[in-house]
Amino acid sequence: MSFENLAVVTRGGIHTITIKRPSKLNALNRQTLQELYGAIIDASGDDKVRVIVITGSGDKAFVAGADIGEIREQSPVEARSFSQFGQNLMSMIQSLDKPVIAAINGFALGGGMELALACHLRIASDNARLGLPEIKLGIMPGFGGTQRLLRLVGSTLALEMALGGEPISAERAHQLGLVNQVVPAAELEDAVTRMAKPLVKAAPEAVRGILQAILQGSDINLEAGLALETARFALCCATEDMKEGTSAFLEKRAPEFKGR
Ligand code: COA
Repeated sequence: MSFENLAVVTRGGIHTITIKRPSKLNALNRQTLQELYGAIIDASGDDKVRVIVITGSGDKAFVAGADIGEIREQSPVEARSFSQFGQNLMSMIQSLDKPVIAAINGFALGGGMELALACHLRIASDNARLGLPEIKLGIMPGFGGTQRLLRLVGSTLALEMALGGEPISAERAHQLGLVNQVVPAAELEDAVTRMAKPLVKAAPEAVRGILQAILQGSDINLEAGLALETARFALCCATEDMKEGTSAFLEKRAPEFKGR
């Protein structure tokens, strides 16, 4: 599939999707959302892709939000379908069974922050700013931001960020547990590669089990979460990769997982 507003490249199992609307700070218009949907579907079905990285073009913005010009022209019915499409896209990203890393290379505002929140891991450059400024436009987050932020940091901070609308620094986002790492802007790509490489080599069934147990676990009760963990653990133990991983440990060598 070819894209107008995205650049996609796969290197060594790491599939990088770069959102490319630099003149609009990579704002998500309908076309870009649709392209992102297609790119994620492509990557999810490609066995060569082991880790997905989402980032923005340029050195100023990851994504500065949904496209405000388009929002302004929407009818209420169109706005509902826009919100639902955005939510479905974010939910699809979060429920992928391959790790998705957000490389936050600048402003991650509104839909940009919501996109980052849907990713499994987040690395921010030290110049990044994250926020939900929709309230300043007379609207509210519509791509899942209220729900994912609430679950990640609790209602006190979620309300502060969504009602206040003021972006926070990458450092503060790190202190709050909203991002995994903050690195100098020039080192972002290397830091993402360092995070992605071990995941490329990891046993896929273990990766899938961990993603599902932890992400679904936050929405179900402890008993159901523990049952899910047991089921996924047992599935890992049915793989050749389990035999390889445990044998490699006992034989004091590095494992070579085959995804079987
Ligand atoms: N939707 C549409 N266009 C956007 C946009 C968005 N979310 N964010 C930025 N742009 C556009 C600007 O309109 C401008 O376009 P123009 O050159 O044709 O006028 C261009 O991107 C550059 O943005 P600009 O505002 O000039 O850059 P800045 O450095 O002064 O400010 C921001 C950067 C991110 C603080 C500012 O662009 C901003 O507040 N953006 C909106 C953030 C937002 O409210 N997001 C939630 C949307 S629901």
